[in-house]
Amino acid sequence: MFPELRGERPRPVADMEFGLTKLGREMYDDASEIGPENEPDLPTAGYTYWGQFIDHDLTFDLTPLDNASDAVEQVRNFRTPFLDLDHLYGSGPGLSPFLYQKGFHDAERLLVGETTAGRCADLPRNREGIALVADPRQDENLIIAQLHVAFLQLHNLVVTRPQQLAASPYYLQQPNTFTAAQRLVKWHYQWLVRHDYLHEILDPEIFNLLGKLEAEKLALGDIEFRMPAEFTAAAFRFGHSMPRDLYSKGVNDFRKDVRLETLLSLTGPMGLTTAGEPANTRLPDEWVVSWDHFFLIPPRIAAVNRARKIDTQIAKALHHLDPDTVKLFNLSVGAGRHLAHPELPVRTLLRGFRMRLPSGEQVAERISAHFTCPRTLQASEIADNSPRGEILREPAYGLEQNTPLWYYVLKEAELLQSGWCLGPVGSVVIADVIISALAADPDSYLHASDWHPTLTDDDGRALTSMAKVLQWVSNASTTHSST
Ligand code: HEM
Repeated sequence: MFPELRGERPRPVADMEFGLTKLGREMYDDASEIGPENEPDLPTAGYTYWGQFIDHDLTFDLTPLDNASDAVEQVRNFRTPFLDLDHLYGSGPGLSPFLYQKGFHDAERLLVGETTAGRCADLPRNREGIALVADPRQDENLIIAQLHVAFLQLHNLVVTRPQQLAASPYYLQQPNTFTAAQRLVKWHYQWLVRHDYLHEILDPEIFNLLGKLEAEKLALGDIEFRMPAEFTAAAFRFGHSMPRDLYSKGVNDFRKDVRLETLLSLTGPMGLTTAGEPANTRLPDEWVVSWDHFFLIPPRIAAVNRARKIDTQIAKALHHLDPDTVKLFNLSVGAGRHLAHPELPVRTLLRGFRMRLPSGEQVAERISAHFTCPRTLQASEIADNSPRGEILREPAYGLEQNTPLWYYVLKEAELLQSGWCLGPVGSVVIADVIISALAADPDSYLHASDWHPTLTDDDGRALTSMAKVLQWVSNASTTHSST
């Protein structure tokens, strides 16, 4: 994003990495410091995993941490840099036939798996319990896996609803029912990312500039677009601060007080086990998620879990990731070497350093030259009196006024927004990349003039939020078990 800016290394690399490792370890969630779980200004917990779903759609850098370097142009992205749901559809029925049901030529439906009770509500899985998905990370925790299932169900619903497909001429331009349904699902998802997800997580002042940004990006015409390292290795990892160690409202009306470790242990790579129980190859039925526990779905507003605040603390469970979880994200470079750092914050800080990302201060300075609104953080605010501030001030580590970009993004959210949404620097980086991804994709809804969601629920109400989409899918999937 800022190719002319390179992270500075004022101290020996080993000393700086030692300091970053200490800083990452110090970023644990001290429960006494977080606000009440259901503080109504916090995004609901669904936005955490929706963010992860978006991340997995845009970027997949398998470079082992040990090999991360500043040759960022050579990093291979195993996903397209577009919001095109390639992690859902794979390369389509022709090249990824294992994702699709047989017998629906030109109106293909996506495979949905069955739970232990035979309910169509799990990812499709092989005999080993490994998910049949285009991106293995979609089975990394229960909530993202269930969100993936909801999108499988959404496609399967619209492919069988001719009146929904006839609602916009843009769908009918497609050669067959499958691609018409795919475009409809994709455009709704893109519109929701722009109007619902970004509304929830961006600084409101930056959100209000999105229309202008869209016009600017569209005016660039055809461009070759890559995911910037500032986004993938730092800014969009802000979401690592949002998972909670404990979801007291649980995942449905039966499973309350659910721990993050449990969400991580209920998925394929971990053998679908729950503590002390034998491994399952299908999701135990009682773990199917009720979306009113993750998004505001009236009348059950009181059932919803909230996200953690966006700040410099990370849930304890993310400080000791299981090797099988880390393996989903990194190619192994030799027996066990991907295990070197099971702490997600340490991995993130070291990766950003090894990629020589610019510091938070460098990016803030560059951004404030273009936007009038942002207030940048003072050195004393970043390196405060906390143990983390002490590490940042330690001269041997060279981190003072050379703050890792990821840490800066979290700190400004903490200080300027009370953790309810991103601050200006994080917001500008994320807005720029997501709007660029939409504008650079010739098949995105931004290229269709004045397109708005056309999907409606069974009472004819437009599905203009993720909560409404999930409610519609859940209701329809309960009545039509084939979805
Ligand atoms: C339980 C929740 C999550 C877990 C266990 C998890 C785990 C991981 C791991 C292990 C990596 C690779 C780390 C490395 O080697 O550098 C990673 C990368 C990443 N994560 Fe997460 N993550 C979670 C949630 C999220 C959320 C909520 C977001 C954003 C809203 C997010 C955004 C990212 C991004 C952008 C990357 C880099 C992806 C790439 O370029 O390959 N993650 N995550």
